[in-house]
Amino acid sequence: MSLLQAATDVRENAYAPYSRFKVGAALRTAGGAVHVGCNVENVAYPEGTCAEAGAIAAMCAAGERQIAEIWVIADSPEPVPPCGGCRQKIAEFAAQDVVVTLCTTDGKRRSLTVADLLPGVFTQSHMDRA
Ligand code: THU
Repeated sequence: MSLLQAATDVRENAYAPYSRFKVGAALRTAGGAVHVGCNVENVAYPEGTCAEAGAIAAMCAAGERQIAEIWVIADSPEPVPPCGGCRQKIAEFAAQDVVVTLCTTDGKRRSLTVADLLPGVFTQSHMDRA
């Protein structure tokens, strides 16, 4: 199954009663496994957990750490870019040249790299003098 289809399918399981904005994410790891996530909101923190964060959590829970490719889909006029927190989370587990593909349910697509998404990313090396 393609990552687009996996992200499309898991989006149906999103729990988004507050925003009514369902998001699905699917990633492939360096080892070839596919992990998916959807956004899950709650009344105290209505922004909840993003789809990308869910897919990353599933990847980590499976003992994997390296994203090779990630797709995100939502029903929006233009492909929705990941929030700031998700950009940092993706950058934690993906090389700078990994491609992130943002999609709409009506077929628009935008691909960019992790470096494009989060220029000047904070990394471990910035703490080298600590
Ligand atoms: N959301 C995601 O899951 N991923 C994104 O890239 C953008 C936003 C979710 C969080 C929240 O449940 C809803 O969309 C509105 O912010």
